[in-house]
Amino acid sequence: MWNHPGMNLQQAADAVTVLLAGSIPRLQAWYTALAADARFRVAMQASDPQDLKSKLVTSPDVLVLDAGIYPGPQPLLEDLTRYHGAAYVLLPMEASREAMDSVAQIPCVKGVYKGEMNLVGMAGEMYAAAQAQRQARMSAGMEALWNRPQSGMGAGGAPLGLRVVAVWNQAGGVGKTTIATNLAYEAARRGLPTLLVGMGAPDDLPLILGLKPEPNLNHWRANPTAEGLKLALQKVDTLDVLAGFPDVLSEARAITTPLDAPESIPKLVLTAAYMGYAVIVLDAPPTALASAALAAANTLVLVARPSLEGVMRTVEAYRTVVERLAGEHHIPAAGVYVALNRTGARMGADEWHKAASALLGRPFPPVVAQIPDEPKVGEAQDGRKLPLNVSDGFARGVKPLADALFSPQGAQAPQNGSNGKKSFEIFGVRVKV
Ligand SMILES: Nc1ncnc2c1ncn2[C@@H]1O[C@H](COP(=O)(O)OP(=O)(O)OP(=O)(O)O)[C@@H](O)[C@H]1O
Ligand SMILES: [Mg+2]
Repeated sequence: MWNHPGMNLQQAADAVTVLLAGSIPRLQAWYTALAADARFRVAMQASDPQDLKSKLVTSPDVLVLDAGIYPGPQPLLEDLTRYHGAAYVLLPMEASREAMDSVAQIPCVKGVYKGEMNLVGMAGEMYAAAQAQRQARMSAGMEALWNRPQSGMGAGGAPLGLRVVAVWNQAGGVGKTTIATNLAYEAARRGLPTLLVGMGAPDDLPLILGLKPEPNLNHWRANPTAEGLKLALQKVDTLDVLAGFPDVLSEARAITTPLDAPESIPKLVLTAAYMGYAVIVLDAPPTALASAALAAANTLVLVARPSLEGVMRTVEAYRTVVERLAGEHHIPAAGVYVALNRTGARMGADEWHKAASALLGRPFPPVVAQIPDEPKVGEAQDGRKLPLNVSDGFARGVKPLADALFSPQGAQAPQNGSNGKKSFEIFGVRVKV
């Protein structure tokens, strides 16, 4: 939908995408002001906050917003703190100087106006701001997004960074699904808004969590929006679950989906992040689809067997991530954790770690969890219960991993750099950014 008839494809791709949000008459006036300017493409319009929220997920370069569509300051503030483009906000005539100042402090806000705004006069500045942001985004990659503080609160109320955890190994049957489900359940139990995504084909989550095979990932892929995701979810207590594929054919289609397609796994994660999840756990499969999960993650849990074969498979998996997929994901070196699963009389953690480091030729990421081999685990899953709730040994084994990933102290490890916390007050509400 190009809004400039003479525009060619390249110009359209270069054009700054704009989301207009306001009352219908306001939208018409703003649209007319920008439609004649080839530097802009009015990609979307929204006339109520819900609609705006779902459209913000697509990350338009510029947001022109009439705050009058919001019933009050709180939701306006929440949406603006989550947006990372350049926002121009029109406040009602009655807005105080103080209110204007506090909106202006929100990082994305480039201009605050009262009563009226002249888009034609502002076009040059809007274009420059959007270009500068594109430049900054390109050099910073998507790091800023992944390190973006979330609304989720860790124990004790401290803010926790967004965690997108891929639980993975190239080896099959090592306990990826078992650990992913229990880890996600534990995050939700700690009060973090958490989404667990199954990616198997056919997926094991419905079987072991007592869910229905539908809705599932296919339903989200058919309607890849925030609304579509909500409709595709099932619940296990406070944990939201998106079941994986019902068959290998639908998985095969997902494998050939480009990573930037709306129905891709990275876009699913982005949508979920903007919906407010603080933790997203991906049960990454041992198939080629794992690369999509890794591309979306900022944290990797490698599930390993405590044996020499386990060492070899896990070092190989680690190499795949840090060497072969270098530059194609956002998992920093400190964001990789090893969980030894089904420990017992076999290789101890120290021995395992030494062997892995020797094979890699440098220190291997730390073993943060040793989860015992417990017959109750399989029994629990057969009975559609969580091993965490029936086996103390299993629960004790998983706890250090959950602490490392979901406690505010542990949360600092994989974030690189942008943890400088800043807070400001808006309409009397203190907000951390
Ligand atoms: N700590 C444990 N103690 C006992 N049994 C376990 C443990 N962890 C996993 N299992 C059992 O091992 C089997 C495989 O586990 P799981 O399905 O989690 O592995 P996976 O890596 O997801 O497999 P796949 O590669 O097929 O997806 C299951 O039957 C599960 O009950
Ligand atoms: Mg599995």
